[in-house]
Amino acid sequence: RQIEFEHLNLSKWIPDEELKNFKSTVEHARNTLVKRDGAGNDFTGWLNHPVAYDKEEFERILQAAEEIRQNSDVLLVVGIGGSYLGARAAIEFLHHSFFNSLPDEKRKAPRIYFCGNSNSSKYLADLEDMLEGCDFSVNVISKSGTTTESAVAFRIIKQKLEEKYGKKEAAKRVYATTDKANGALKKMADKEGYTCFVIPDDIGGRYSVLTAVGLLPIAVSGADIKALMQGAADMRQRVLEAPYEENPSLQYAACRNLLLRKGKEIELLANYEPSLHYFSEWWKQLYGESEGKNQRGLFPASVDLTTDLHSMGQYIQDGARILFETVLYVEETERNVFIPEAAEDLDGLNYLAGKSMEFVNHAAMEGTILAHETGNVPVMRIKLPKQDEYTLGQMFCFFWFACGVSGYIGGINPFDQPGVESYKSNMFALLGKPGF
Ligand code: PA5
Repeated sequence: RQIEFEHLNLSKWIPDEELKNFKSTVEHARNTLVKRDGAGNDFTGWLNHPVAYDKEEFERILQAAEEIRQNSDVLLVVGIGGSYLGARAAIEFLHHSFFNSLPDEKRKAPRIYFCGNSNSSKYLADLEDMLEGCDFSVNVISKSGTTTESAVAFRIIKQKLEEKYGKKEAAKRVYATTDKANGALKKMADKEGYTCFVIPDDIGGRYSVLTAVGLLPIAVSGADIKALMQGAADMRQRVLEAPYEENPSLQYAACRNLLLRKGKEIELLANYEPSLHYFSEWWKQLYGESEGKNQRGLFPASVDLTTDLHSMGQYIQDGARILFETVLYVEETERNVFIPEAAEDLDGLNYLAGKSMEFVNHAAMEGTILAHETGNVPVMRIKLPKQDEYTLGQMFCFFWFACGVSGYIGGINPFDQPGVESYKSNMFALLGKPGF
């Protein structure tokens, strides 16, 4: 089933007339994106990727995933930013809440750990403990091939792998996802004989989860990557063809930009499922890196509800009126738990006996939306039929397209990230890297 965009209470802030009048601005931005004549247009390969992807490489990804599933207890995924968040978001979205802790016969896949996404010594040392007595493989992911966090982690992991298996066998357990020709990782991979997968030149990190960057770890987890691609392909067709009024990505892009113009400077992505936490992290990178430029741009933030209603709830309800909320709502839970009747009703919950947790969660969401409306928070909602691969593929494509269009509405290049470089030269100088 298709994901749906709902305006909910937005007409209070955006009259119908205004949304209609914004059509030409949005369509101009859409045309700029689709015709590839805007800033950063050499990084719009993601637009056709769900249909134009390299089918031969896709088969090699499936084969490599099968190999890892057969010979490894653990897959280590080394990467940061766009070379990390998509795979993590997908695996958390699609699988059991305690995936890595499940007994092997239930998980039916290697445990998957992520590293190279911080400089934490404690994290890596703790991770090494998890490898004791395990057969493991490594998927090192870096488009540039030179990112410090992931390169340092990989150097340490590589040594561990070689100590365990010897250089030749270790090389068979390393899968490098990187540029087709350039960068230190590509050079090393060629020299050491690692299996390589390519990150296309025209797809930047935060738009890359449906390339080998995300597909290999996601396939190792046992998820159906064909259904994932199909969801993205179907959403691609929908956002390319649907008219403004019925186009979910264009409506989303229009509403968030109109709200920004009315002083709502923070977009809060809210979910009601803990397993969407990393999807929100992925989304924050997508919108933060794409739009935060020239001293402008919506600030993307996220909350996990109802958890954060007990921390951030006060601010959302009653703090500075500078935010709006985009709710991610999963319509159908795969696993429902029912509330039992208690003989003595000591906790006073018998009024819920026989009801499902999903029923309670839904009431919490509806109640929260009403409360936020009373508190003058604009709220829109994206309805997700269920947590499966097909839905997730749609979500990636929906948000990419809206992001490209939003960026052009805002007059910036949504495909570069010059600000990401600034901390690096200071860090390199402090580390004593030659030339800095
Ligand atoms: O979106 C981006 O381009 C960045 O967040 C990168 O993904 C991140 O810096 C990692 O880069 P690389 O894949 O080159 O190691």
